[in-house]
Amino acid sequence: MKRILFKDYELVVFDSVYEPREDSFLLAENVKVKPGIEALDMGCGCGIQSINLALQGANVLAVDVNRKAVANTIENAKRLDLDNKIKVKRSNLFSSIAKRKFDCIVFNPPYLPASSLGDVSIEGGKHGYEMLHKFLDKMPLYLKRDGVCYFVQSSLNGEQRTKKKLTSLDLSFKIIARQKFFFEELIIFKAFFQFFKKYDIY
Ligand SMILES: C[S@@+](CC[C@H](N)C(=O)[O-])C[C@H]1O[C@@H](n2cnc3c(N)ncnc32)[C@H](O)[C@@H]1O
Repeated sequence: MKRILFKDYELVVFDSVYEPREDSFLLAENVKVKPGIEALDMGCGCGIQSINLALQGANVLAVDVNRKAVANTIENAKRLDLDNKIKVKRSNLFSSIAKRKFDCIVFNPPYLPASSLGDVSIEGGKHGYEMLHKFLDKMPLYLKRDGVCYFVQSSLNGEQRTKKKLTSLDLSFKIIARQKFFFEELIIFKAFFQFFKKYDIY
């Protein structure tokens, strides 16, 4: 088990759970929400995004396909006395999430091309972008009309492809942050509905 610092809070990171890195911190820095909103943290890992949301007053549902990540997020929420604000469950993307809508959805997806390791923390499918696309296909069904979705994109797996995907789903977007590293650039997307969309049930 490792320990990391986030906003002066100590978080524990269990073995086999994604240790927060530049992508996690860049996403957290750029997610701003109002107190009382309903948020979904997809692929919660050790719970860093949930904690960031809950510290701003959001009520959070955190999900991850990795059972250890689920346990890790529960542990960090308890340690910081945020367990009344953060509910955690295991889910393969949206498969175990009841039909409901959120004000804010955040996702720091795995995005490396699949290797023989089969590591769900970092591998996003054959080419790397498939997990993000699967998420984007369903995400609008869970987003309120005036809701926002923040997610991380790496230049390694196609900024233009993601823009095209969002457009094909009738979603508008802004790029709210970029950070360059030696071998890639990390990009934070903020996606939202521009008009009354086909996903709306009202
Ligand atoms: C890059 S890590 C991000 C972890 C954490 N949110 C952060 O920002 O540090 C991606 C997370 O997505 C989870 N994940 C991978 N595939 C998933 C799936 N199909 N459904 C839900 N979570 C998934 C992984 O287990 C991992 O915790």
